Amino acid sequence: MSSHKTTFQFISEPGDVNFGGKVHGGTVMKWIDQAAYTCARNWAESYCVTVYVGGIRFYKPIGIGEVIKIDSQVIYTGSSSIHIMVEVYSRTFEQKKFEKKTHCIIIFVSVDENGNPKKK
Ligand SMILES: CC(C)(COP(=O)(O)OP(=O)(O)OC[C@H]1O[C@@H](n2cnc3c(N)ncnc32)[C@H](O)[C@@H]1OP(=O)(O)O)[C@@H](O)C(=O)NCCC(=O)NCCS
Repeated sequence: MSSHKTTFQFISEPGDVNFGGKVHGGTVMKWIDQAAYTCARNWAESYCVTVYVGGIRFYKPIGIGEVIKIDSQVIYTGSSSIHIMVEVYSRTFEQKKFEKKTHCIIIFVSVDENGNPKKK
């Protein structure tokens, strides 16, 4: 069944660290791609590829050993494209509430077995 929302939750690990002791920006971008792909793939019910990533905003750094929550949501669909809004939150185990750390828009295209867009 297709759904327009997905949520991931996991813990940031020591291997995610950057030179400043926080989570590497590239690691956050990989999380965004994985979470948004899952959302797009569930929605499209077929294989999708990333066509565009934009509007990424890192509001605050993310610490190691924090609880990460990634909300992905379909906000627009075209003939073959699926536009996903992604919000990345984190909190320490001592904090009750999540704080928004990163925002991004990422667009996928549903493709056929030859890699061509599947137009509706
Ligand atoms: C994605 C891909 C199949 C699209 O092929 P294409 O020949 O450009 O197809 P189209 O021009 O019909 O565009 C397909 C859709 O992408 C959208 N699109 C293309 N470029 C875009 C851009 N820069 N920003 C937003 N949407 C874009 C089009 O608007 C269209 O949407 P629609 O069908 O909903 O109207 C092709 O560009 C491709 O294979 N790219 C590489 C994908 C990849 O390797 N990603 C990284 C690993 S997953």
